[in-house]
Amino acid sequence: MFLLNTLNLYKVMDPSLVLVCTVMAPMLLWPLQCSGVSSDESILDSQRLDIIQPEESSSIFEKNTQTSSIQYFKTDNSCHKNKTLVGIDSDEKCKIETPRPLFQFFKGILSPTESKELCEFVWNTGLGADPTSKNFLERNKNIRFIKVLEKGFETNDQSWYMQSEQYNDYSGGFKRYYDLIPEHLVMGPMYNVIASYIDYLKIPTNTIFMIQLQSSIIRATDNGDGDITGQGIHTDGCDDAMLVCIDRDNVQGAESQFHASLDGTQPLGDSTILEAGDGVIFRDNKLFHYVTKATTTEPVARRTMILIHSPFDGSGDLNPTNQYGTNDATVQLRYDSPFKNHDDSAI
Ligand SMILES: [Fe+2]
Repeated sequence: MFLLNTLNLYKVMDPSLVLVCTVMAPMLLWPLQCSGVSSDESILDSQRLDIIQPEESSSIFEKNTQTSSIQYFKTDNSCHKNKTLVGIDSDEKCKIETPRPLFQFFKGILSPTESKELCEFVWNTGLGADPTSKNFLERNKNIRFIKVLEKGFETNDQSWYMQSEQYNDYSGGFKRYYDLIPEHLVMGPMYNVIASYIDYLKIPTNTIFMIQLQSSIIRATDNGDGDITGQGIHTDGCDDAMLVCIDRDNVQGAESQFHASLDGTQPLGDSTILEAGDGVIFRDNKLFHYVTKATTTEPVARRTMILIHSPFDGSGDLNPTNQYGTNDATVQLRYDSPFKNHDDSAI
């Protein structure tokens, strides 16, 4: 049994997005509080609906999340029945669907010990180069593909991935090659986050998805123009994604944002800094995301993150469940040497 202290749900006019901001009784597995959420009622109508508890949390998301989380729900084409959020299927009949937020922040998903182990690898061994970052902040990146098993998961040795240019006009449309995240990191300090991601999203057995370990290098000489992704507001072309901060070493800025439109006119909530250990899960096929520019007061600084995207096999195929597009890029690497030479058939 649980208690809802405050529970308001608003319907955003276009597109229909609903903000649910709750304060949960301590008996809930993860306490929620209504902080830092935009309440710009000029973009919200006054419709309030009775609703529902958030999806039950599990594994480290309940164990390690000690502070607030913010949840956004989307309810277009949905109805409510017996205080359970239900979607409308193609036959326009209601079907029960467990409510899941558009995005949700979690504190302390990565333990200090796990962060330290990953930092030591990044600092002492080093990540491989990411040549696609040549037009924005220097980035180093390792990748690994994961296959979900009936119990647990396994890795494979695919060392490249491709995104469709429909999702990424800058670096989509060609194979991108990277060093692999070593097995001892995947099955070591990254294991809990990956296993919990699978568990939280109930990812089916045999699904393939990708994890990335990457650092952005910020220099004082960037003069505040520290573009993290080179893509602006974008989708990654998957259904779901997770970002986890491993370390922010003398970094300012680099705030995570979510948007309902590519032009930035419909922000969802406030910008949020992911501090070391913090993570956010978001529905990549229901919204756009962005990270603001990074700066530093030191000669050089580094921001290191774990990225998880599912489902994703790296083939570059369009995802039938992600219909979003991309902002036009001023540079399209798929037409540049040496990128286009990796796989001309992809152009
Ligand atoms: Fe992204």
